[in-house]
Amino acid sequence: MNEDYLVVGSGLFGSTFAYEAAKRGKRVKVIEKRDHIGGNIYTETLEGIQVHKYGAHIFHTNNKEIWNYVNQFAEFNRYTNSPIANFKGEIYNLPFNMNTFYKLWGVITPEEAKAKIEEQRKVSGIEKPRNLEEQAISLVGTDIYEKLIKGYTEKQWGRKATELPAFIIKRLPVRFTYDNNYFNDRYQGIPIGGYTQIVEKMLSSERIDVELNTDFFAKREEYLQEFPKVIYTGMIDQFFDYQFGELEYRSLHFETTILDLENYQGNAVVNYTDAETPFTRIIEHKHFEFGNQPITVITKEYPRTWKKGDEPYYPVNDEKNNEKYRKYSELAGQFPNVIFGGRLGMYKYYDMHQVIAAALSVVKKEFHE
Ligand code: FDA
Repeated sequence: MNEDYLVVGSGLFGSTFAYEAAKRGKRVKVIEKRDHIGGNIYTETLEGIQVHKYGAHIFHTNNKEIWNYVNQFAEFNRYTNSPIANFKGEIYNLPFNMNTFYKLWGVITPEEAKAKIEEQRKVSGIEKPRNLEEQAISLVGTDIYEKLIKGYTEKQWGRKATELPAFIIKRLPVRFTYDNNYFNDRYQGIPIGGYTQIVEKMLSSERIDVELNTDFFAKREEYLQEFPKVIYTGMIDQFFDYQFGELEYRSLHFETTILDLENYQGNAVVNYTDAETPFTRIIEHKHFEFGNQPITVITKEYPRTWKKGDEPYYPVNDEKNNEKYRKYSELAGQFPNVIFGGRLGMYKYYDMHQVIAAALSVVKKEFHE
């Protein structure tokens, strides 16, 4: 008791806040409804392999300060994300680059690749894209769209590309170099030994008390009375009893298998870009750490429509949901003792480096620094 802060959720946002508050001499209680800390960055060891339990997590940032910050808690390897697309057994490099174009069309020079894309854009005759399909074709032409975008996007969103709004794809990364590195960021890697150690270290202070299997909503009123300040990283609509309606999410189902095989797919991430394969990607975890174990662990990732009670993964930031979120966030302004943070509290897709930056900026404000 006598803690200064209650942090709801032990994900990267809540844990960064707790760590910083404890460093400033504050006492913090962290409650977590799952049976483990770490939120979605949690990794667990299976057969000596670090398994990314909630989807592939690659740390990448351009921000040196954030890179140095996270390196306090773990040593990172030199992993470079270079996913591969499997379209009906044809293999293509991602992001779209000269290797992809060579495989698609046999073109060798950037000029040839640009001409090919331009030719397909012209043939399509699309001037004002009315939906995602038209938008994608107007940006990269029909071949890339048909083989590498259409099926994958439709599976991810659970809707036909012609029924999805154009704004989902503002631009598509097209690179006219032979470079398969997915991210443009200066710093990139995977923590050797997994992500969980980062959160473990963040929460290791004796001023921090962690309680697992504890849902904020079981004792909401008591918590709000007992603690002078609450950092809430759960769903903002749930906090307000869904009074303006539910915010929509896309959910995921993960199917993990241990295989008595040294190397299943030769790459950490393989996207299945056709419409028929029910999963969007297969992760082979050992490749994140260049593992040489005799066996391997793979996870198939199936996109799902979210309904209340499911794990919310990706916010659906269309106009309707953003408008709802705006109302909730206005209401949140009337609760000065509650800080809403993280991907669920702010209804925003955050990468890890962004969530750390967001938490550090809340810390600065909270401690008047
Ligand atoms: P997070 O969801 O991690 O934590 C919230 C915590 O609060 C959870 O542990 C939850 O159980 C708990 N909670 C919620 N309600 C509660 C309640 N009522 N009571 C108690 N506890 C409650 N980023 C990146 O940089 N590189 C990448 O490659 C990826 N890849 C990726 C793949 C997939 C599939 C997803 C969904 C996301 C990514 N990310 C990513 C994003 C990354 O996962 C994200 O930035 C952080 O996990 C966000 O941390 P938060 O603390 O905001 O939320």
